[in-house]
Amino acid sequence: MTALIIAIDGPAAAGKGTLARRLAARYGLPHLDTGLLYRVIGRRVLDLGGDPADVAAAEAAARVIAPEDFIRADLRGPVADEAASRVAAYPAVRAALLDYQRGFGAARGAVLDGRDIGTVIFPNATAKLFVTASAEARGLRRWRELKAREIDADLEEVTAEVRARDAADAVRAASPLRPAEDALLLDTTLLDAEGAYLRALDLLAEKLPSPIRSP
Ligand code: DC
Repeated sequence: MTALIIAIDGPAAAGKGTLARRLAARYGLPHLDTGLLYRVIGRRVLDLGGDPADVAAAEAAARVIAPEDFIRADLRGPVADEAASRVAAYPAVRAALLDYQRGFGAARGAVLDGRDIGTVIFPNATAKLFVTASAEARGLRRWRELKAREIDADLEEVTAEVRARDAADAVRAASPLRPAEDALLLDTTLLDAEGAYLRALDLLAEKLPSPIRSP
């Protein structure tokens, strides 16, 4: 039997992470936030005093990821965002992470969220969602997250950064952000987390077996 894979892709702050965690709980699957892999690599390069734009440093960091890296407290915020976006543009970095991501999903099935799960990592995923929202809505969400963590930020600047990062993720040559042809589209601009989850369940209903838990 092939493993059940739910691929969730989309731009920053579209609501992928929250949705992925809830779907994972509902279907009894492990969840992998693949953005964290790129964040860990960017952080490692910075720790060593390197430049995330240095491809050799980024590739070396990608080869030594350890489980304890994922629980670091400094993987979010503008510096980590920028470093992650830089290292994610390198094919060598992406290649170094390919087996890890496929291995994670192949073992027991999984929900994975990222930018290239449905297009590159699991092109034969059981179900694919492409989650998006307007740049304004996503900027506001990111700004609220920062505020909740007591980080002072300007809403317009945060929205501009979200736009710039999307543009970088979408135009890069290596695995650019784009919906897989067979992805189901979910626009969360006017939905809260609960609304997005319920809509996702509707969309996925025809693709997936009965879940182990009710909503
Ligand atoms: O989802 P996130 O914001 O944590 O992702 C951090 C960066 O990594 C972002 O610039 C996009 C990139 N990324 C990627 O290129 N491919 C993935 N599968 C996940 C994230």
